[in-house]
Amino acid sequence: MSNNKSQHLLEMRMKAQEGGGIKRIEKQHSKGRLTARERISLLLDEGSFEEFDMFKTHRCTHFDMAGEEYLGDGVVTGYGTVNGRLVYVFSQDFTVFGGSLSETFAEKICKIMDMAVKNGAPVVGLNDSGGARIQEGIESLAGYTDIFLRNVTSSGVVPQLSGIFGPCAGGAVYSPALTDFTVMVRGGSYMFLTGPKVVKTVTHEDVDVETLGGADVHTMRSGVAHLAAENEQQAIQYLRDLLSFMPQNNLELPPRRETADPADRMVDMLETLIPDNHHQAYNIKEVIFNTVDDAEFLEIQPNYAPNLVVGFGRYGGMSCGIVANQPMHLAGVLDNDSSIKGARFVRFCDAFNIPVVTFVDVPGFLPGTVQEYGGIIRNGAKMLYAYAEATVPKVTVVTRKAYGGAYCVMSSKHLRGDINYAWPSAEIAVMGPQGAAEILYARETKKQDDPEAFLKEKEKEYSDNFANPYVAAQRGYIDDIIAPAKTRFRIIKALTMLEHKQDKNPPKKHGNIPL
Ligand code: HXC
Repeated sequence: MSNNKSQHLLEMRMKAQEGGGIKRIEKQHSKGRLTARERISLLLDEGSFEEFDMFKTHRCTHFDMAGEEYLGDGVVTGYGTVNGRLVYVFSQDFTVFGGSLSETFAEKICKIMDMAVKNGAPVVGLNDSGGARIQEGIESLAGYTDIFLRNVTSSGVVPQLSGIFGPCAGGAVYSPALTDFTVMVRGGSYMFLTGPKVVKTVTHEDVDVETLGGADVHTMRSGVAHLAAENEQQAIQYLRDLLSFMPQNNLELPPRRETADPADRMVDMLETLIPDNHHQAYNIKEVIFNTVDDAEFLEIQPNYAPNLVVGFGRYGGMSCGIVANQPMHLAGVLDNDSSIKGARFVRFCDAFNIPVVTFVDVPGFLPGTVQEYGGIIRNGAKMLYAYAEATVPKVTVVTRKAYGGAYCVMSSKHLRGDINYAWPSAEIAVMGPQGAAEILYARETKKQDDPEAFLKEKEKEYSDNFANPYVAAQRGYIDDIIAPAKTRFRIIKALTMLEHKQDKNPPKKHGNIPL
């Protein structure tokens, strides 16, 4: 090859690196944002990135866009490794037409999504885009829809992760929404279907982008996103950490990570964690952090429905999804939001062969019109459905309350819980002692000189007889009553025993989860 041709190739490559040009890169930096390529460098192991379609440009003919071709057309795509494991990546380049999506832009993304499924590896999308490329019109809509189709057909086949680093508006929101986890950057990213101007016209609301669709909105109120990072670097670290818990695809087991944390480590503080007064709260995260390997727990949606804690941790090197009622918030009840949050998380774990460890301390479902009108029947059923259909190893520990319908839902034996343990402090019953005594002895109470003392006595009687783990253990609904200090050890033993578990659901096209 002549030197001229090599030189030309080099120049073309250099030009592609510049995206929409140095000025626009400077503008991007001045907003405190990284470029598409800088984000890829942070995400992937050093030197591992292989780029595709660097020379692709738009084919727009609707407008006169001659001279406005940028190599790569606003999205950088390819593959590389994260902690040595193959990952496909696309990174939208805001410096080229505001990262807006054209026909060719979409083709590039579809190409790597198809490769990811063929080769069984996750896809990470780094989003920073003004939405559909206005000049392209319908081709852009077609391109989006081609991506959505792939998001859906890849769902449950390879993990799909989204990072939102700038605007993500209009139809652009639906690709991240179809992926498994979405990470946003506080103050730098926003997601909404319709922007503040349209909102003002239609509903007369005055709202800024942050209040409409910033990271806090989506990680605290809407539940659209799973993690809010303080900056881009942290967001990318979250994406890397998330991947470390997942297998490459639905046919593989999650990776093991060796640990120096002894499997038989006793956790003495758990012996005294549960307060004597059963109305008093304690922090369930103490149980999680003190039992997982090396106190490492990646909590998902920590600020959305905090009455249910979900996230990833490891037991004896085994990657696990952890679900736990949180007595610190709403006494750990299940409500609409927590049911949706829990169900989606359990389904992700099940799709990707990640065992689920559940800690139960739940007084029931939250009563009231707000919950009933909000569809607690339909939403609670999601949680029930998710646990029931899950065929991954399921280990459950009841730490305190497991009352009523919520007992059934929280990975009980009856939903194919594999190993169900209870602490001696567990209260497994149809309802709390106070409520039960009030209903059972309503008539007698009225006849008493001291109704309060009478009810207290009946409450204690009920508690002694039913609100304990022994009745459930006698029937085999609880496999063993364990010392709290031995919880880590017993969970690891259970998971090790279940490592090669085989279970399945009847053949079907798909179930009909009550959405
Ligand atoms: C073409 C676009 C563009 C778009 C931005 N640009 N959005 N070009 N199509 N959708 C270009 C701008 O012309 C500008 O070009 C450069 O990108 C940077 O944009 P700025 O406006 O200067 O940046 P900023 O002030 O940061 O504002 C960012 C923004 C704004 C909020 C995203 O650009 C904006 O509102 N864009 C339009 C958003 C939109 O309505 N998209 C269509 C949604 S409908 P120069 O040459 O100056 O660098 C949709 C339907 C999809 O997405 C449905 C799928 C099913």
